Amino acid sequence: MDIKKQPFGKIESGLAVDLFTLNNDNGLEVKISNYGGIVVSVMTPDWNGEFGDIVLGFDTLEEYVRQNPYFGCIVGRCANRIAQGKFRLNGVEYKLAQNNGQNHLHGGIRGFDKVVWTAEAVTGEGEVGLKLTYLSRDGEEGYPGNLSVEVVYTFTQQNELKIDYAATTDQVTIVNLSNHSYFNLAEAGDVLGHEIMINADRFTPVDETLIPTGELRAVKGTPLDFTRSTSIGARIGQPDTQLQLAGGYDHNWVLNNPDGSLSLAARVKEPTSGRVLEVHTTQPGVQFYTGNFLDELVGKGGQVYRKRSGFCLETQHFPDSPNQPDFPSVVLNPGDRYAQTTVFKFAVDR
Ligand code: GLA
Repeated sequence: MDIKKQPFGKIESGLAVDLFTLNNDNGLEVKISNYGGIVVSVMTPDWNGEFGDIVLGFDTLEEYVRQNPYFGCIVGRCANRIAQGKFRLNGVEYKLAQNNGQNHLHGGIRGFDKVVWTAEAVTGEGEVGLKLTYLSRDGEEGYPGNLSVEVVYTFTQQNELKIDYAATTDQVTIVNLSNHSYFNLAEAGDVLGHEIMINADRFTPVDETLIPTGELRAVKGTPLDFTRSTSIGARIGQPDTQLQLAGGYDHNWVLNNPDGSLSLAARVKEPTSGRVLEVHTTQPGVQFYTGNFLDELVGKGGQVYRKRSGFCLETQHFPDSPNQPDFPSVVLNPGDRYAQTTVFKFAVDR
Protein backbone atom coordinates (compact mmCIF):
# COMPACT_ATOMS: atom_id res chain seq x y z
CA MET A 1 0.00 0.00 0.00
CA ASP A 2 1.24 3.49 -0.48
CA ILE A 3 0.42 7.16 -0.69
CA LYS A 4 1.92 9.59 -3.20
CA LYS A 5 1.67 13.35 -3.46
CA GLN A 6 1.67 15.50 -6.60
CA PRO A 7 0.86 19.17 -7.25
CA PHE A 8 -2.78 19.81 -8.26
CA GLY A 9 -2.45 23.53 -8.98
CA LYS A 10 -2.90 26.82 -7.20
CA ILE A 11 -5.95 28.69 -6.01
CA GLU A 12 -6.47 32.42 -6.53
CA SER A 13 -4.61 33.44 -3.39
CA GLY A 14 -1.54 31.67 -4.81
CA LEU A 15 -1.82 28.86 -2.30
CA ALA A 16 -0.59 25.52 -3.69
CA VAL A 17 -2.89 22.52 -3.56
CA ASP A 18 -1.89 18.85 -3.72
CA LEU A 19 -3.42 15.66 -4.98
CA PHE A 20 -2.76 12.50 -2.98
CA THR A 21 -3.01 9.00 -4.47
CA LEU A 22 -3.74 6.17 -2.05
CA ASN A 23 -3.29 2.59 -3.30
CA ASN A 24 -3.96 -0.76 -1.74
CA ASP A 25 -2.49 -4.13 -2.71
CA ASN A 26 -5.68 -5.13 -4.56
CA GLY A 27 -5.04 -2.42 -7.14
CA LEU A 28 -7.77 -0.08 -5.92
CA GLU A 29 -6.85 3.58 -5.92
CA VAL A 30 -8.34 6.70 -4.36
CA LYS A 31 -7.28 10.26 -5.16
CA ILE A 32 -7.94 13.01 -2.64
CA SER A 33 -7.08 16.71 -2.74
CA ASN A 34 -6.47 18.95 0.24
CA TYR A 35 -8.63 21.55 -1.54
CA GLY A 36 -12.00 20.95 0.12
CA GLY A 37 -10.83 17.45 1.11
CA ILE A 38 -12.24 16.41 -2.26
CA VAL A 39 -12.30 12.73 -3.23
CA VAL A 40 -11.33 13.25 -6.87
CA SER A 41 -11.38 9.66 -8.09
CA VAL A 42 -12.06 6.12 -6.86
CA MET A 43 -10.87 3.30 -9.12
CA THR A 44 -12.51 -0.04 -8.37
CA PRO A 45 -12.88 -3.27 -10.38
CA ASP A 46 -16.11 -4.55 -11.89
CA TRP A 47 -16.92 -8.28 -11.89
CA ASN A 48 -14.57 -8.77 -14.89
CA GLY A 49 -11.71 -7.19 -13.01
CA GLU A 50 -11.83 -4.08 -15.21
CA PHE A 51 -11.06 -0.96 -13.23
CA GLY A 52 -13.11 2.19 -13.60
CA ASP A 53 -13.67 5.49 -11.81
CA ILE A 54 -16.92 5.46 -9.82
CA VAL A 55 -17.12 9.08 -8.61
CA LEU A 56 -18.14 12.23 -10.47
CA GLY A 57 -15.65 15.07 -10.70
CA PHE A 58 -13.35 17.17 -12.83
CA ASP A 59 -9.89 16.77 -14.35
CA THR A 60 -8.51 20.06 -13.04
CA LEU A 61 -8.40 22.03 -9.80
CA GLU A 62 -9.53 25.12 -11.70
CA GLU A 63 -12.88 23.45 -12.52
CA TYR A 64 -13.42 22.40 -8.91
CA VAL A 65 -12.78 25.99 -7.81
CA ARG A 66 -15.05 27.49 -10.48
CA GLN A 67 -18.14 25.27 -10.52
CA ASN A 68 -18.17 22.36 -8.12
CA PRO A 69 -21.70 21.18 -7.20
CA TYR A 70 -20.08 19.67 -4.06
CA PHE A 71 -18.47 16.73 -5.94
CA GLY A 72 -16.44 14.65 -3.46
CA CYS A 73 -15.90 17.35 -0.86
CA ILE A 74 -16.09 17.64 2.89
CA VAL A 75 -19.09 19.72 3.87
CA GLY A 76 -19.16 21.85 7.03
CA ARG A 77 -19.22 23.55 9.48
CA CYS A 78 -22.84 22.41 9.15
CA ALA A 79 -23.76 20.14 6.27
CA ASN A 80 -27.22 20.49 4.69
CA ARG A 81 -29.79 23.23 5.30
CA ILE A 82 -30.46 25.60 8.18
CA ALA A 83 -33.78 27.42 7.81
CA GLN A 84 -33.46 31.14 7.06
CA GLY A 85 -29.74 30.89 7.94
CA LYS A 86 -30.58 31.49 11.61
CA PHE A 87 -30.33 29.62 14.88
CA ARG A 88 -30.17 30.30 18.62
CA LEU A 89 -27.69 28.99 21.15
CA ASN A 90 -28.05 29.79 24.86
CA GLY A 91 -30.38 32.69 24.04
CA VAL A 92 -28.09 34.29 21.45
CA GLU A 93 -29.22 34.45 17.81
CA TYR A 94 -26.63 33.76 15.12
CA LYS A 95 -26.99 34.65 11.45
CA LEU A 96 -25.37 32.59 8.73
CA ALA A 97 -25.02 33.14 4.99
CA GLN A 98 -28.28 32.53 3.07
CA ASN A 99 -26.75 30.81 0.07
CA ASN A 100 -29.70 28.58 -0.92
CA GLY A 101 -32.72 30.82 -1.39
CA GLN A 102 -33.52 31.98 2.14
CA ASN A 103 -31.70 29.03 3.68
CA HIS A 104 -28.13 28.27 4.63
CA LEU A 105 -26.61 25.27 2.80
CA HIS A 106 -23.46 23.21 3.37
CA GLY A 107 -21.58 25.70 5.55
CA GLY A 108 -22.22 28.84 3.50
CA ILE A 109 -20.47 30.77 0.77
CA ARG A 110 -17.00 29.50 1.57
CA GLY A 111 -17.64 26.30 3.46
CA PHE A 112 -15.15 23.55 4.28
CA ASP A 113 -15.51 22.35 0.67
CA LYS A 114 -13.70 25.48 -0.57
CA VAL A 115 -10.81 25.84 1.86
CA VAL A 116 -7.29 24.47 1.65
CA TRP A 117 -6.67 21.94 4.41
CA THR A 118 -3.29 21.11 5.93
CA ALA A 119 -2.44 17.59 4.82
CA GLU A 120 -0.27 14.90 6.33
CA ALA A 121 0.22 11.31 5.17
CA VAL A 122 -0.32 8.72 7.90
CA THR A 123 0.36 5.01 7.58
CA GLY A 124 -0.71 2.10 9.74
CA GLU A 125 -0.83 -1.70 9.65
CA GLY A 126 -2.71 -2.67 6.44
CA GLU A 127 -3.82 0.89 5.73
CA VAL A 128 -2.70 4.24 4.37
CA GLY A 129 -4.25 7.53 5.27
CA LEU A 130 -4.40 11.24 4.79
CA LYS A 131 -4.95 13.49 7.79
CA LEU A 132 -6.53 16.84 6.95
CA THR A 133 -6.75 19.64 9.49
CA TYR A 134 -8.37 23.05 9.37
CA LEU A 135 -8.95 25.84 11.87
CA SER A 136 -12.29 27.51 11.25
CA ARG A 137 -12.08 30.90 12.94
CA ASP A 138 -14.67 32.37 15.27
CA GLY A 139 -17.25 34.14 13.08
CA GLU A 140 -16.35 32.34 9.86
CA GLU A 141 -19.56 32.17 7.74
CA GLY A 142 -21.34 33.44 10.88
CA TYR A 143 -20.59 30.46 13.12
CA PRO A 144 -19.42 31.12 16.69
CA GLY A 145 -16.19 29.73 18.15
CA ASN A 146 -12.79 28.75 16.84
CA LEU A 147 -13.36 25.22 15.60
CA SER A 148 -10.39 22.95 15.18
CA VAL A 149 -11.31 20.25 12.66
CA GLU A 150 -9.58 17.01 11.75
CA VAL A 151 -10.70 14.67 8.98
CA VAL A 152 -8.75 11.47 8.42
CA TYR A 153 -9.28 9.47 5.24
CA THR A 154 -7.99 5.92 5.59
CA PHE A 155 -7.81 3.41 2.76
CA THR A 156 -7.57 -0.26 3.74
CA GLN A 157 -6.68 -3.67 2.31
CA GLN A 158 -10.38 -4.53 2.77
CA ASN A 159 -11.20 -1.96 0.03
CA GLU A 160 -12.69 0.51 2.49
CA LEU A 161 -12.40 4.26 2.48
CA LYS A 162 -12.91 5.25 6.10
CA ILE A 163 -13.54 8.85 7.10
CA ASP A 164 -13.00 9.85 10.72
CA TYR A 165 -14.25 13.31 11.55
CA ALA A 166 -13.29 15.14 14.75
CA ALA A 167 -13.65 18.69 16.06
CA THR A 168 -13.18 20.75 19.20
CA THR A 169 -14.21 24.33 19.95
CA ASP A 170 -13.42 27.18 22.35
CA GLN A 171 -17.05 28.45 22.45
CA VAL A 172 -20.39 26.72 22.18
CA THR A 173 -21.11 26.12 18.48
CA ILE A 174 -22.81 23.73 16.04
CA VAL A 175 -21.10 21.08 13.89
CA ASN A 176 -22.34 18.60 11.31
CA LEU A 177 -19.70 17.21 8.95
CA SER A 178 -20.22 15.03 5.92
CA ASN A 179 -18.71 13.96 2.63
CA HIS A 180 -20.55 14.81 -0.57
CA SER A 181 -19.21 12.23 -3.07
CA TYR A 182 -21.43 11.51 -6.06
CA PHE A 183 -21.18 7.88 -7.11
CA ASN A 184 -21.99 6.13 -10.35
CA LEU A 185 -21.02 2.47 -10.05
CA ALA A 186 -21.48 1.98 -13.81
CA GLU A 187 -18.92 4.82 -14.44
CA ALA A 188 -21.30 6.62 -16.83
CA GLY A 189 -24.95 7.04 -17.81
CA ASP A 190 -27.67 7.52 -15.22
CA VAL A 191 -28.01 5.76 -11.87
CA LEU A 192 -31.66 4.75 -12.22
CA GLY A 193 -30.78 1.04 -12.61
CA HIS A 194 -28.71 0.97 -9.41
CA GLU A 195 -30.42 -1.00 -6.63
CA ILE A 196 -30.33 0.53 -3.19
CA MET A 197 -31.18 -0.58 0.32
CA ILE A 198 -31.35 2.09 3.03
CA ASN A 199 -31.44 0.81 6.59
CA ALA A 200 -34.12 3.24 7.76
CA ASP A 201 -37.80 2.89 8.67
CA ARG A 202 -38.39 6.64 8.78
CA PHE A 203 -37.40 9.83 6.97
CA THR A 204 -37.73 13.55 7.64
CA PRO A 205 -40.36 15.01 5.26
CA VAL A 206 -39.59 18.49 3.94
CA ASP A 207 -41.37 21.68 2.92
CA GLU A 208 -40.99 23.37 -0.48
CA THR A 209 -37.57 24.80 0.49
CA LEU A 210 -36.36 21.32 1.55
CA ILE A 211 -36.42 22.19 5.27
CA PRO A 212 -37.72 19.32 7.45
CA THR A 213 -41.16 19.86 8.92
CA GLY A 214 -39.99 18.23 12.17
CA GLU A 215 -41.97 15.05 11.63
CA LEU A 216 -40.31 11.63 11.51
CA ARG A 217 -42.51 9.80 9.01
CA ALA A 218 -42.61 6.06 8.26
CA VAL A 219 -41.24 5.15 4.82
CA LYS A 220 -43.62 2.21 4.62
CA GLY A 221 -46.06 2.58 1.73
CA THR A 222 -44.11 5.49 0.19
CA PRO A 223 -41.57 5.63 -2.70
CA LEU A 224 -38.97 6.37 -0.01
CA ASP A 225 -39.17 2.82 1.31
CA PHE A 226 -35.78 1.25 0.53
CA THR A 227 -35.83 -1.19 3.44
CA ARG A 228 -35.70 -3.82 0.68
CA SER A 229 -33.27 -3.29 -2.16
CA THR A 230 -35.10 -1.50 -4.99
CA SER A 231 -33.84 0.25 -8.10
CA ILE A 232 -33.44 4.02 -7.79
CA GLY A 233 -35.59 4.53 -10.87
CA ALA A 234 -38.46 2.20 -9.92
CA ARG A 235 -40.57 4.87 -8.20
CA ILE A 236 -38.70 8.16 -8.74
CA GLY A 237 -41.34 9.41 -11.21
CA GLN A 238 -44.36 8.66 -9.02
CA PRO A 239 -46.78 11.51 -8.28
CA ASP A 240 -45.64 11.67 -4.67
CA THR A 241 -45.58 15.08 -2.97
CA GLN A 242 -42.20 14.54 -1.30
CA LEU A 243 -40.57 13.45 -4.59
CA GLN A 244 -42.13 16.37 -6.42
CA LEU A 245 -40.94 18.92 -3.85
CA ALA A 246 -37.35 17.72 -4.25
CA GLY A 247 -37.39 16.82 -7.96
CA GLY A 248 -36.41 13.26 -7.04
CA TYR A 249 -34.76 11.88 -3.92
CA ASP A 250 -33.17 14.56 -1.76
CA HIS A 251 -34.21 13.60 1.74
CA ASN A 252 -32.76 12.63 5.06
CA TRP A 253 -33.43 9.05 6.18
CA VAL A 254 -33.50 8.35 9.92
CA LEU A 255 -31.13 5.42 10.23
CA ASN A 256 -32.10 2.39 12.30
CA ASN A 257 -29.13 2.90 14.58
CA PRO A 258 -30.29 4.26 17.94
CA ASP A 259 -26.97 3.71 19.75
CA GLY A 260 -24.77 5.47 17.18
CA SER A 261 -22.47 2.48 16.70
CA LEU A 262 -20.75 1.98 13.33
CA SER A 263 -23.43 0.12 11.38
CA LEU A 264 -24.75 -0.45 7.90
CA ALA A 265 -26.64 2.57 6.54
CA ALA A 266 -27.01 1.66 2.88
CA ARG A 267 -25.99 -0.87 0.29
CA VAL A 268 -26.02 -0.11 -3.43
CA LYS A 269 -25.56 -2.61 -6.23
CA GLU A 270 -25.15 -1.84 -9.91
CA PRO A 271 -26.28 -4.98 -11.77
CA THR A 272 -24.36 -4.63 -15.06
CA SER A 273 -20.92 -4.10 -13.49
CA GLY A 274 -21.62 -6.09 -10.33
CA ARG A 275 -20.13 -3.24 -8.30
CA VAL A 276 -21.36 -2.80 -4.75
CA LEU A 277 -21.01 0.13 -2.40
CA GLU A 278 -21.71 -0.28 1.29
CA VAL A 279 -21.97 2.69 3.61
CA HIS A 280 -21.45 2.21 7.33
CA THR A 281 -21.74 5.08 9.76
CA THR A 282 -22.04 6.24 13.35
CA GLN A 283 -24.25 9.14 12.24
CA PRO A 284 -28.03 9.22 12.86
CA GLY A 285 -29.04 10.16 9.29
CA VAL A 286 -28.19 9.94 5.63
CA GLN A 287 -29.16 12.32 2.83
CA PHE A 288 -29.87 10.24 -0.26
CA TYR A 289 -29.66 12.62 -3.21
CA THR A 290 -30.11 11.69 -6.87
CA GLY A 291 -28.31 14.62 -8.50
CA ASN A 292 -31.57 16.47 -9.15
CA PHE A 293 -29.79 19.79 -9.65
CA LEU A 294 -27.12 18.54 -12.08
CA ASP A 295 -27.61 20.20 -15.42
CA GLU A 296 -25.36 19.62 -18.45
CA LEU A 297 -22.12 20.01 -16.57
CA VAL A 298 -18.95 18.94 -18.39
CA GLY A 299 -16.74 16.88 -16.10
CA LYS A 300 -13.94 14.32 -16.22
CA GLY A 301 -12.79 13.37 -19.71
CA GLY A 302 -15.51 15.52 -21.27
CA GLN A 303 -18.34 13.44 -19.72
CA VAL A 304 -21.55 15.43 -19.44
CA TYR A 305 -23.29 15.15 -16.08
CA ARG A 306 -27.04 15.54 -15.94
CA LYS A 307 -29.87 15.01 -13.50
CA ARG A 308 -29.48 11.40 -12.16
CA SER A 309 -25.87 10.99 -13.39
CA GLY A 310 -24.82 10.25 -9.83
CA PHE A 311 -26.16 9.67 -6.35
CA CYS A 312 -24.93 10.83 -2.95
CA LEU A 313 -25.19 9.18 0.44
CA GLU A 314 -24.32 12.04 2.78
CA THR A 315 -24.13 10.64 6.29
CA GLN A 316 -25.07 13.40 8.70
CA HIS A 317 -27.15 14.78 11.54
CA PHE A 318 -30.59 15.76 10.29
CA PRO A 319 -31.01 18.97 8.26
CA ASP A 320 -31.96 22.10 10.23
CA SER A 321 -31.11 20.36 13.52
CA PRO A 322 -30.18 23.67 15.23
CA ASN A 323 -33.85 24.75 14.91
CA GLN A 324 -35.44 21.37 15.63
CA PRO A 325 -35.40 20.62 19.36
CA ASP A 326 -36.55 17.03 18.83
CA PHE A 327 -33.74 16.10 16.42
CA PRO A 328 -30.40 14.74 17.74
CA SER A 329 -28.29 17.72 18.78
CA VAL A 330 -25.48 19.22 16.70
CA VAL A 331 -24.30 21.47 19.55
CA LEU A 332 -20.64 21.20 20.50
CA ASN A 333 -19.44 22.61 23.82
CA PRO A 334 -15.89 23.58 24.75
CA GLY A 335 -14.17 20.61 26.38
CA ASP A 336 -16.21 18.11 24.36
CA ARG A 337 -15.05 16.35 21.20
CA TYR A 338 -17.19 15.88 18.11
CA ALA A 339 -16.37 12.49 16.54
CA GLN A 340 -18.10 10.59 13.73
CA THR A 341 -17.02 7.82 11.38
CA THR A 342 -18.27 6.79 7.96
CA VAL A 343 -16.94 3.89 5.89
CA PHE A 344 -17.47 3.46 2.15
CA LYS A 345 -16.75 -0.18 1.31
CA PHE A 346 -16.23 -1.20 -2.30
CA ALA A 347 -17.01 -4.74 -3.45
CA VAL A 348 -18.33 -6.84 -6.32
CA ASP A 349 -21.25 -9.21 -6.29
CA ARG A 350 -22.33 -11.15 -9.35
C1 GLA B 1 -27.44 18.12 -0.90
C2 GLA B 1 -28.73 18.84 -0.83
C3 GLA B 1 -29.24 19.03 -2.20
C4 GLA B 1 -28.24 19.80 -3.04
C5 GLA B 1 -26.93 19.10 -3.03
C6 GLA B 1 -25.88 19.90 -3.73
O1 GLA B 1 -27.60 16.83 -1.34
O2 GLA B 1 -29.67 18.19 -0.03
O3 GLA B 1 -30.46 19.69 -2.17
O4 GLA B 1 -28.09 21.08 -2.53
O5 GLA B 1 -26.54 18.85 -1.71
O6 GLA B 1 -26.27 20.33 -4.99
